[in-house]
Amino acid sequence: MLLGVNMDGNCNSLTPKKRPNDGGSDSRRVYKLKILLPNGTTVLVEISQGTEFITVNELVNRVKQQAEKTSDHKKSVNWDADLCFIDDCDYVFRNCLRLTKLELNRVYYLRLDDGSPPAMIYYKDMWDLTPDLELLMELPAEYTFEAALADLIDNSLQAVWANDESDKRLISVEVSNEKISIFDTGPGMDSVSIEKWEEMGATLHKAYKSQVIGGKPPYLKPAFGMFGYGGYIASMHLGRRIEVSSKTKIGKKVYTLHLERDALVSGSVSGSKATWRTYGGLRDPTNDELELSPGESFTKVEIFEPTMRSTNIRQLKCKLKDIYFPYIQHDDLSEKGRTIMPIEFQVNGDDLADTPGGEVEVTNLASCIGPEFILQVRFKLNHDNATMTSSQGTRSSNEANARLRCVYFPLKDGKESIESLIEALKEDGYDYIEEFGNFRHVSCRWLGRLLPDACWAWLPFMDFRQRKTDISEVFLKRSCMRVKCFIEADGGFSPTSSKTDFAHHDPYTTALMNLGNKQPLEKDSGVDIDIRRDGKSLNLTQLDEQYQLWLMEMHEKYDEVDSGIDEHVLIVNPSNKKELHISNDEDAWIICRTIDISGKDGCLLESVEENPKFNLQKSLSLPINVIDAGKCLAVADSERNNQIVKNYQNRPSSIEILNTRQCRELGIEASLPDEHEIIAVVRPGTYKSGIPSKHLDQKYVMKDNFEMSLVITYSTNKKPQDEHKFYSGRVAPSSLGDFHGLYVFKPRCTSHPLFQNGGIFTFTFSVGDSSCEKRVVKVPVKATCDVYNLM
Ligand SMILES: Nc1ncnc2c1ncn2[C@@H]1O[C@H](COP(=O)(O)OP(=O)(O)OP(=O)(O)O)[C@@H](O)[C@H]1O
Ligand SMILES: [Mg+2]
Repeated sequence: MLLGVNMDGNCNSLTPKKRPNDGGSDSRRVYKLKILLPNGTTVLVEISQGTEFITVNELVNRVKQQAEKTSDHKKSVNWDADLCFIDDCDYVFRNCLRLTKLELNRVYYLRLDDGSPPAMIYYKDMWDLTPDLELLMELPAEYTFEAALADLIDNSLQAVWANDESDKRLISVEVSNEKISIFDTGPGMDSVSIEKWEEMGATLHKAYKSQVIGGKPPYLKPAFGMFGYGGYIASMHLGRRIEVSSKTKIGKKVYTLHLERDALVSGSVSGSKATWRTYGGLRDPTNDELELSPGESFTKVEIFEPTMRSTNIRQLKCKLKDIYFPYIQHDDLSEKGRTIMPIEFQVNGDDLADTPGGEVEVTNLASCIGPEFILQVRFKLNHDNATMTSSQGTRSSNEANARLRCVYFPLKDGKESIESLIEALKEDGYDYIEEFGNFRHVSCRWLGRLLPDACWAWLPFMDFRQRKTDISEVFLKRSCMRVKCFIEADGGFSPTSSKTDFAHHDPYTTALMNLGNKQPLEKDSGVDIDIRRDGKSLNLTQLDEQYQLWLMEMHEKYDEVDSGIDEHVLIVNPSNKKELHISNDEDAWIICRTIDISGKDGCLLESVEENPKFNLQKSLSLPINVIDAGKCLAVADSERNNQIVKNYQNRPSSIEILNTRQCRELGIEASLPDEHEIIAVVRPGTYKSGIPSKHLDQKYVMKDNFEMSLVITYSTNKKPQDEHKFYSGRVAPSSLGDFHGLYVFKPRCTSHPLFQNGGIFTFTFSVGDSSCEKRVVKVPVKATCDVYNLM
């Protein structure tokens, strides 16, 4: 049941500890021969050290003794026949076997041949699984379908990499509802290594670790095997029944190994608690297998009755292509223009190199062609910390290397390339949750393979959003948002056991995530860092300077700002910050006039001495990070113009006084007989005077509830100083039947009866909304005149 609990992936917080010695704790030193009997049973014969050889007869006797003790098998062995033993390579032993060439304690497999036809047989208890109980309790975090599949593909990639250059390096993945299979043309496994396949904690690759540190980025050295349970756990996640088939170049037969999850979980596999034995088999390779592997070696992992499924094969192809991208194709940087395809990778028969799409490809297309900002970083444990261990319990290597490639995604036609990129990925079915404001600017590969969860928002040296910058470098805050950094890490770094992220708390992971941070970490990371650009060593200040210079270069060369917001930006240091509501001296603020505020109500520059002074009026002042916080959405020019026109058209734009004819048309004469009434209306921007038919169209008379004021001044001459006001009134609109928006003034004043004196009367109409022009009408009146016409 222990295994059952862990199968469900609930123990991810625990730390796997490696077995101290993969050879096991067996201190006796013996030769071990595992004999596969024709009746499908197996017998293990141990011969003490020092024995030089054993005759076939003697071995037969020992096998017979043991077999009779244990065997309850229906089919018996023909012990009287002419017996012989056959090894992996079909070599037949008829007389004796020399033991001195064998390794002590290593299990060698021999078939006993009694002349009965070599039917396709499964041998009971053929393989010993010796799970490390401690390890079983500490299985990796929950897998996704792709992560589990990738764990098996890792094994295949590592295997084909061991092939000679001339050998085919093919990985072929087939996924259907009935079966998942992963086939590779690697060197295959003999009887010893196939046992390692599912022997928990038994990895053959630890020795390679030191060979995968350093070298040339992108570090295509797929020494992925670290824990020794990846393949087994991954297949157990993917399905109920597994069959592993493998053949080496020299081996004539295909060894098979069968595992059933339910049998393991319920403990019905024979053996004690510490040892599980499982079925295995030997067979001839099929024609299909031989056709796919001209080198005559291969490994095939088949998972039947899959419990985890990928619903969308196209997306699966894209995701796998993303994970293994540089192994499928990459441009050799040293030989320009040459694309290298290190391996052949097929999914359901299609070559991934020919499959369009995928995040890497879409991202590459969106980036700019300008120079990348490339850093080569070496991390070294300093002496005090030479024994640091990661959370995975593995001791950190003394050194780790990474190449960081910062790529610029420019503003194109006023639109952020990253935004277009996100849109393209979403369209492509990626369950992308990022937006421009929370885009993750860092993604990581380890030994060329993507660690899908190692994608971070920023590295400290790239993040200018909250940084105190010189006022002239405000653009940096925006430009830094347009960078993505691709990290290629070598084998000095450690992944989590599910190979989806860097090992947490590993000193190198911590140091990498803090790159550029000038404030020392809480706890000294214990790692010395050497940062180089073009071979030259940089300290953190130089890194900062050079990165800023690069950003500036990219911004100037590649951002197409003519239609973007940048052209309207003016950088100043105003003297009256308080009045502008600028609360914090360190950050940049922007002053902007919203679309509904007319130009004359917008911010005014009042004085232009050393530090200019602004009158904010109706404009707003906002800290610049509103833009980066994703609260600001860019709109296309055409959309903005439309909005301006719409706004303008729907706003009050002028005041018009109705003439007698119009009043009559409205039937006002009858209801408002007073001759001294003045009736005004407010016209919207859409109204164009001079089209008589539209004068009294409600569409062109605003219904809004403005207050209109009228001031009448009077002077006997044209001098403004002699003017005196004798009426001022303010009215709300009134309606006449269905017609709304009439402003009716009754400027009667007993002390100054209108127009009874000669002189100039000035009528000034205005509404509160400033977008509406005032209307000023001057009426010269002769002394006795009782006739007036305001129009
Ligand atoms: N396709 C394959 N071809 C050849 N050998 C393989 C293949 N798959 C697995 N093996 C062998 O089986 C061993 C166990 O594989 P497994 O994935 O369980 O562990 P690992 O790769 O060593 O470590 P990790 O747990 O980190 O993946 C490998 O070390 C390798 O020797
Ligand atoms: Mg593995």
